[in-house]
Amino acid sequence: MKPIKIGVIGGGLMGREVASALGRWFVLENFPVAAELTAVCDLAEKQRDWFRRVPTVKLLTADHLELLASPEVDVVYVAVPHQLHEPIYLDVLQAGKDLLAEKPFGIDLKAARAIASAAKATGRFVRCSSEFPFLPGAQRAYQLARGGQLGKLLEVHSGFHHSSDLDPTKPANWKRQVKTCGEIGVMGDLGMHAVHVPFRLGWKPRQVYAQLQKIYHERPDGRGGMATCDTWDNAMLHTEVEIDGAEVPVRFEMKRLAPGETNTWFLEVLGTEGGVKYSTKEPKTLWTFHRGKEQTWQRTDLGFNGPFPTITGGIFEPGFPDCFLQMWAAYLAERAGLLGDRFGCVTPEEAVGSHELFAAALASNLEKKVVAL
Ligand SMILES: NC(=O)c1ccc[n+]([C@@H]2O[C@H](COP(=O)([O-])OP(=O)(O)OC[C@H]3O[C@@H](n4cnc5c(N)ncnc54)[C@H](O)[C@@H]3O)[C@@H](O)[C@H]2O)c1
Repeated sequence: MKPIKIGVIGGGLMGREVASALGRWFVLENFPVAAELTAVCDLAEKQRDWFRRVPTVKLLTADHLELLASPEVDVVYVAVPHQLHEPIYLDVLQAGKDLLAEKPFGIDLKAARAIASAAKATGRFVRCSSEFPFLPGAQRAYQLARGGQLGKLLEVHSGFHHSSDLDPTKPANWKRQVKTCGEIGVMGDLGMHAVHVPFRLGWKPRQVYAQLQKIYHERPDGRGGMATCDTWDNAMLHTEVEIDGAEVPVRFEMKRLAPGETNTWFLEVLGTEGGVKYSTKEPKTLWTFHRGKEQTWQRTDLGFNGPFPTITGGIFEPGFPDCFLQMWAAYLAERAGLLGDRFGCVTPEEAVGSHELFAAALASNLEKKVVAL
């Protein structure tokens, strides 16, 4: 099988995760597409040097146009600060390469729309990253929500919580500043993870009331001084979605300061007949609600059943590198027309929809009122 050649632009935290996923591609069982990391671009020499340990990498460069000109690249994953999404994603598409974009798919709504229309105009295969829904528990929650056995829906709660920003001595970085992270702040950082499953279920908010908080306004700059931090830290979006002809409250939560939550993705869907809760806090546990003569919350240990089978034992626990690998499998399967009825990565339309929600949330918070979408 001829491997699909993957190039990475931005070899930081997430660029290295791609090397990890592709480096153990062989754990996927009977997977119809082979893939390998062939080229990496990063401005920083130290970041580029890290990739020397990956034997398949043939090109290391500081110039993303050099990577895009290489015949050794079919698909490009871009993981750079948000103000660079639009120009670099457009360069990828103009170069005739397919794109797995990182969230938030442009720094704002205008950028997201420009990227989505370039994807359409060039006909390239474009998806956006959001890996947590590929965990077995998230998949089960999605299937249950989709299956229609939960009765009349009461409420939905979807979110992603971090906590390291509770520490005021944590240095500032590009994710804490509007010019590089975007005015949407934490919604751009964590929001795609929260909307992916609800949007895929067709649950698009009709209106939003947003509560946005900036908690620390400056942080150490790492050079002995202080840097301004002007992005939103925590966001609660109280939305209304029409599901089966009824208005259902859907709350999206994205927080950088959620006490005790290092990296917690969660989804709860509650109905009159049944309910489901899944959180990466308990990565192998699925909670399901049943209303019978008695009402019960049942706890199920799930094991390791991702959408794409691997060699890993069925009783083992999944984690971040596993769902990231599953997401890449979904991207390359869908690109090859082989996804079938399995769950796919965020589409450009869904990414634009997330920006529409976040832009409305900014307006809602500013005017302290409900904003229609
Ligand atoms: N899917 C996820 O779970 C997840 C998690 C974290 C971050 N992200 C997203 O990934 C993207 C990158 O975040 P990160 O945490 O990896 O950031 P990072 O700061 O760790 O890495 C970014 C890298 O981009 C490089 N870079 C900057 N400008 C460049 C340019 N012009 N050309 C080439 N390289 C350049 C930097 O040197 C740095 O190494 C963002 O869009 C972020 O929102 C996604």
